[in-house]
Amino acid sequence: MTRGRFITLEGLDGAGKSTHLDWLVARLRSRGHVVVQTREPGGTPLGEKLRALLLAEPMHLETEALLMFAARREHLARVIEPALDRGDWVVCDRFTDASFAYQGGGRGLAREKLALLEQWVQGEAADGLRLQPDMTLLFDVPTELARRRILGMDRALDRFEQEQGEFFERVRAEYLRRAENSRGRIRIVDATGAIDKIQQSLEEIIATL
Ligand code: TYD
Repeated sequence: MTRGRFITLEGLDGAGKSTHLDWLVARLRSRGHVVVQTREPGGTPLGEKLRALLLAEPMHLETEALLMFAARREHLARVIEPALDRGDWVVCDRFTDASFAYQGGGRGLAREKLALLEQWVQGEAADGLRLQPDMTLLFDVPTELARRRILGMDRALDRFEQEQGEFFERVRAEYLRRAENSRGRIRIVDATGAIDKIQQSLEEIIATL
């Protein structure tokens, strides 16, 4: 049995990630893959409870990071690993890159602490490599555009979306820094253009999997 592929989607709030997520999952299914679509924080009953806390309750930044990784541990054990072992593909809306970008870049938590949590939770695979996504699509837009989209939405903003512009500049910078250091895995998708153009570049990227 071939292990499935693990694909994650990342980007600023307002980058348009959710629109492309549904399209991508439908596209992979039409190619005959069994696809598990999931998200972080969340993806399990406990994880969704942690998500509700994380998006609403004020908390210390280390508590925030620990809860993100606690939810991730549950998600990996109960959903992601079993699916990949069955040969299913997993498409996850955000994963560990978001912790480095938001808790690290945005909130200023030391990268070393996040790296320790990553090692703990994602462990060491049999070949000595940590479990990492096979591919990460980073939907990149300038911060001002992402902000305009978020502020134009007709719903209440969560605890992250309520942050100020400089927070998102730091989040974006950290995402781009990680993309620079993980060129094989993280693919930057210019998400400023028309939807069909973006889908065309996604098509080219997934063809390489
Ligand atoms: P998001 O994925 O944007 O969901 P929605 O589209 O429903 O708004 O929201 C999740 C928020 O959680 C987002 O603002 C980023 C944040 N987040 C972190 O700060 N660290 C993490 O590790 C993860 C997975 C998410």
